[in-house]
Amino acid sequence: MLFLSLFGALLAYALYIAGPFVHRRLTVLGVLRRYPAGSVYSGEVIAIPDTVHCEDVHYHAPSGTLFTACEDNAEIRFKWFPPLATFDDPELASRSQGSIHVVDPKTMKSRRLKFENFEGPFITHGIDVIPDPERPNGEAVYIFAVNHVPETQASGQKGPGARSQLEVFHHDIGSSSVKHLRSVWHPLIKTPNDIFAQSPTSIYVTNDHRHRYPGLMRTLEDFYPGAKWTEVVHIRLDSLAPADQSATAGVTGSIALAPIHNSNGLGHGRSDNEILIASCTSGVLHIGRVSSDDRSGNGNITLVDSIEFDHVVDNPSYFSDPYASSTTGNGDRSGVLETGLARAIDLSKTRQDPTAKDPVMVTYARPTAPGRWEKRVLLEDDGTRIRSGSAAVLVAIEPEKDKASRKAWLFVTGFVSQSMIAVKVDL
Ligand SMILES: *[C@@H]1O[C@H](CO)[C@@H](O)[C@H](O)[C@H]1NC(C)=O
Repeated sequence: MLFLSLFGALLAYALYIAGPFVHRRLTVLGVLRRYPAGSVYSGEVIAIPDTVHCEDVHYHAPSGTLFTACEDNAEIRFKWFPPLATFDDPELASRSQGSIHVVDPKTMKSRRLKFENFEGPFITHGIDVIPDPERPNGEAVYIFAVNHVPETQASGQKGPGARSQLEVFHHDIGSSSVKHLRSVWHPLIKTPNDIFAQSPTSIYVTNDHRHRYPGLMRTLEDFYPGAKWTEVVHIRLDSLAPADQSATAGVTGSIALAPIHNSNGLGHGRSDNEILIASCTSGVLHIGRVSSDDRSGNGNITLVDSIEFDHVVDNPSYFSDPYASSTTGNGDRSGVLETGLARAIDLSKTRQDPTAKDPVMVTYARPTAPGRWEKRVLLEDDGTRIRSGSAAVLVAIEPEKDKASRKAWLFVTGFVSQSMIAVKVDL
């Protein structure tokens, strides 16, 4: 009897300790979320033509345009996408070239930019877009992009794995092309997911997994937040136009932040030195500080805050409200957006299924006091209108005179979504 009650007490204690952990895991992975037929987002949805499988999206405020990198072909991603451990067809991947698109939030049209000086395969993933500091008024931008090229064997055969690298492009706003400046490879860039460019020559890259191939260890890495096996890498480039054109020329790398769990999307925060770092399947967005961009700093990131979301978190974005102080508006609506799968638990089954749906959630978090964030779900869909949401940005709509209500266009992309969508939301 004494033994039994002791056992009961131990069990109760174990549940008391594990309960919140288990509950949080079930919530973030969406195990208890159900999407019966009919539970689609019911507001008006604009599907932007020719935006097939675009993982990331960035808003360039000076030109009022969006940039995204798309696979363009609906088949490739289901046969080759190293971030999801899909390595079926390296030959197909080696002949594939996705593209950078510019989307106009006024016309809701997408334009593919023509490549200059770039022939190679382009298997798209995270990007960053920053103003060219030498050109006034945001006239030109640098675009950094992850490229999951297949490795090449000595025999010339492609695969079986990837030799992922980064691409650096330059684009004059309004022009129809994007110029390739160089590729970047460093041994610390192993499973790159997203990029944060502090300047054209100082960049941060996340590795999303330590275990790139399917198996028990990768599953553990995906589901257990204690598996803090990834990092953010800092890369410094000596030149954007290396004389020998090689991807390794003048590239220095160091670990800027480690260990973190399943590091994923990166974003720019409220100031030039604030970096947003998603810990994907933990459902946590970390807010960090980067040191100044001169060679005096070591490139390391210091964490200053974190926000817990109720779903897995992919590419974060910060919405800087251009009407924050307008007299007709009602206060500052600036905030952080996080986008992710509403049922990440299903991804291992759906990742190679062109007909599956991956439900999506987009959450908007506004700071109410230091370290406090008020969260609201801006969009939830069962995967019919937008599948596998991985990034979202807000574009403010000018407030109506004398009205307190505020609206914005919410643009959402998904790594296996047929198109990027736009919906009007209340802020
Ligand atoms: C920078 O951060 C990495 C990873 O956390 C750490 O190993 C390294 O010692 C740090 N470097 C310095 C100079 O603080």
